[in-house]
Amino acid sequence: MHTFRRFSSQLCVRYPRRLVKSPLGVNRCMSSTEKPSDLLIHSSKIPKGILGQPTCHTHPHLIPNGQLTCGITQQEYKERRDSLLSKLLEESEHIHKSHILVIPAACKQFMSDKIPYVFRQNSDFFYLTGCLEPSAILVMVKLALDASYKTILFVHEKDSHAELWEGPRTGCSLAASLFGADEARPVENFNNYIHRIVSSTKPSVVWYQNESPANPEIHESVRSALRTGHVSLEEPQKYLHQMRVVKSPAEVELMKEACYIGSQSVNLAMACTKPGISEHAVSAILEYSSRMSGAEHAAFPPVVAGGARATHIHYVANNQILNPEDMLLVDSGSQRWLYNSDISRTWPVSGKFSKHHRILYELVLAVQKRLIELLSEHRPPLDHLFDHMCRLLGMHLQQEGILPRNIDNNELIGKAYRLCPHHVSHYLGLDVHDAPLVRRRVPVRTGMIVTVEPGIYIRPDDESVPPEFRGVGIRIEDDVLITDGEPLILTDACVREVDDIEAIVGKQSI
Ligand code: GLY
Ligand code: MN
Ligand code: MN
Repeated sequence: MHTFRRFSSQLCVRYPRRLVKSPLGVNRCMSSTEKPSDLLIHSSKIPKGILGQPTCHTHPHLIPNGQLTCGITQQEYKERRDSLLSKLLEESEHIHKSHILVIPAACKQFMSDKIPYVFRQNSDFFYLTGCLEPSAILVMVKLALDASYKTILFVHEKDSHAELWEGPRTGCSLAASLFGADEARPVENFNNYIHRIVSSTKPSVVWYQNESPANPEIHESVRSALRTGHVSLEEPQKYLHQMRVVKSPAEVELMKEACYIGSQSVNLAMACTKPGISEHAVSAILEYSSRMSGAEHAAFPPVVAGGARATHIHYVANNQILNPEDMLLVDSGSQRWLYNSDISRTWPVSGKFSKHHRILYELVLAVQKRLIELLSEHRPPLDHLFDHMCRLLGMHLQQEGILPRNIDNNELIGKAYRLCPHHVSHYLGLDVHDAPLVRRRVPVRTGMIVTVEPGIYIRPDDESVPPEFRGVGIRIEDDVLITDGEPLILTDACVREVDDIEAIVGKQSI
């Protein structure tokens, strides 16, 4: 890997950002809305000392001064809580009752016995708090007669024995000031608290995600508090996801970074691809490059699929050797400060597209480019984009003689759908399939980030297409920010044109 730096800087597309010093590979940019004076105003609110998560004081290489988490201030988290509560009250039929919102953090997950998986915070909880602590709980209480609301954060109290094993905790005495809450209480007190507050504020509305609860350990506490009568249950997630799906300027900056890191890692994987290398090694290069550039880890287990394995859309075994005649499909992303990129590219292992692979690749690329144009021209719902994909794929496949010419439009669209049976787009952000409660039937809006990912998957035994096109899967996926003007392709640093791919594949030694 000794030539990594030289080569990655050759691949590096200049990226117009105002940079803040960072010793890690990727520089942290200051958001276009941040002013140095804003940072100073808020910096005093972040407590000093070693806490349960990195802060601007203990990890200045990760978090610029004044921000609670990289790129996001305490004030922005507070504004999100304000907006959510206003939205819930607006939507509720019971505006004059008391309202209690409960959003749990994720719990630790264990692979076996006491061996934990890497902890991943619940995105809804993180979006509202910036808190990275497992099993914490956000509660917001708006009493019927009060104009304002109170934020209570339940966290783990400091405990020297637990901290000996797991590392430092923030504890109740500093959690309120760190997260800008009104109060912090120990998680052990949640059960009593929720019963007491629900009983004392009746009639009330409890906003809680009852279906697939984020923390099963507190689910029964909330359920039994609800059984005390004169309490109605409402699901807050739909409204929260409507907020999450439109990114703030600070979130857009974080997404640009995640997309840039992901793009460079796919470029490096392309550059390291040679006949004989394993899918496993390519997967390791993706991870290495992402982490060295400032990602926490991959956004999801990558697909690294050579030859006909690419026709299995969720192939993640990544355990074969790549042959010179194979195309290689990679679907990979990077997570940086919980924001994710999601990129697919397909390239020839030999570094040179065969005639038929090139036809298929250029066809998918033409469809993808047209879909991105359509996003700009019509701002369609993502479901309409999918309809466009089927129509465009069918038309191009017919033009190339891959699908028969003597079939009507409906049959053509049906055959195209069979060759690309996944959706062409999803929202992207804190989750890879972000804000899942926002329907794909709503038109896209400025500030949304969506993927555009047409593909074509032709099984080796698919006798409905000419033999020379069989046994190949191609997907091209970019992450696109919807703006008031042209959409911005956040992953445009990732090589995509045939000539550029051929110029890179195999050029890096490992
Ligand atoms: N990598 C998952 C997706 O593209 O949706
Ligand atoms: Mn995707
Ligand atoms: Mn993907």
